[in-house]
Amino acid sequence: MGRLVSAEEMAEDTFETSIRPDSIDEYIGQAELKENLNIFMKAAKMRGEALDHVLLYGPPGLGKTTMAYIIANEMGGNIKTTSGPAIEKSGDLAAVLSTLEPGDILFIDEIHRIPRFIEEILYSAMEDFKLDIIVGTDASSRNITIDLPPFTLVGATTRAGDLTGPLRDRFGIVSKLNFYTEDELKQIVLRTSRVLKSPICEDAAGELAKRSRGTPRVANRLFKRVRDYALVMGDGNIDLSITKIALDKLKVDAYGLDATDYNLLNSIIEKFNGGPVGIDALASSIGEEASTIEDVYEPYLLQNGFLKRTSRGRMVTDKAYKYLKKGKQDTLF
Ligand code: ADE
Repeated sequence: MGRLVSAEEMAEDTFETSIRPDSIDEYIGQAELKENLNIFMKAAKMRGEALDHVLLYGPPGLGKTTMAYIIANEMGGNIKTTSGPAIEKSGDLAAVLSTLEPGDILFIDEIHRIPRFIEEILYSAMEDFKLDIIVGTDASSRNITIDLPPFTLVGATTRAGDLTGPLRDRFGIVSKLNFYTEDELKQIVLRTSRVLKSPICEDAAGELAKRSRGTPRVANRLFKRVRDYALVMGDGNIDLSITKIALDKLKVDAYGLDATDYNLLNSIIEKFNGGPVGIDALASSIGEEASTIEDVYEPYLLQNGFLKRTSRGRMVTDKAYKYLKKGKQDTLF
């Protein structure tokens, strides 16, 4: 069990934890999810029951983990966290399940990556609060059933489509997290600035919001970097001019596209004549994992009309050509 994380990732996790809102009222954006969850949580509390299991899906960095922690706070339970890749043996899952207390939240990140043969253990745990396990080996092995306390499973995934039907069906609340609007991201940047006690001008917060590809995690990361530039190259004040300088140096353009986005779009244009191109060919041409392209880069490019998916593969759009100032190459076909 457990996964290796770099020092950089750990610092990033600590940073995210330190600025995470604790209550649903402090959480900015995702209005529909907030409104629904508020009602379901209130009702569960009024009945004295655990909240139904919750599945949150959508691109990375939009606040799925943050929402799981908020649910735990609001419901007054402890949160136990694990992730799909960390669960390799059925014993790994049984170990976390057996630590649960009534009303606890079990958060499983990247839940689509739980091995199929282990997933079945979750079915009865979620449905009947029972843990069915096999103890012993060969001839002496037997099934035992352990009662679990009522708990809430919060699953997070970037790929709802990769979940099996039976697992998806066991979530009573299923919600997609969407990219944030510029105004919501601006509010998030202003909130982060208050929490970190690093003042930022309104227009600078707006500029950061514009260039954060609809994603709070990106906005908060950029905030940290811009704060560094302001401290070292300016007087510590995060104003519009230092923000623009810093973002240009970080190669984040006016749309929030970064070097990898450019590499991806240019590669389709230059090496594949604009597409269509299959995901694996595209991935090897830019040296990224296919899953990273699908989960991290593509959703924003699709949403903003730079890229489209067809049955034959990915194609860049006219908007992308115009934006990248490339003429479409003539083709005979
Ligand atoms: N930090 C990261 N995501 C946030 C959100 N949705 N609301 C407030 N602060 C956040």
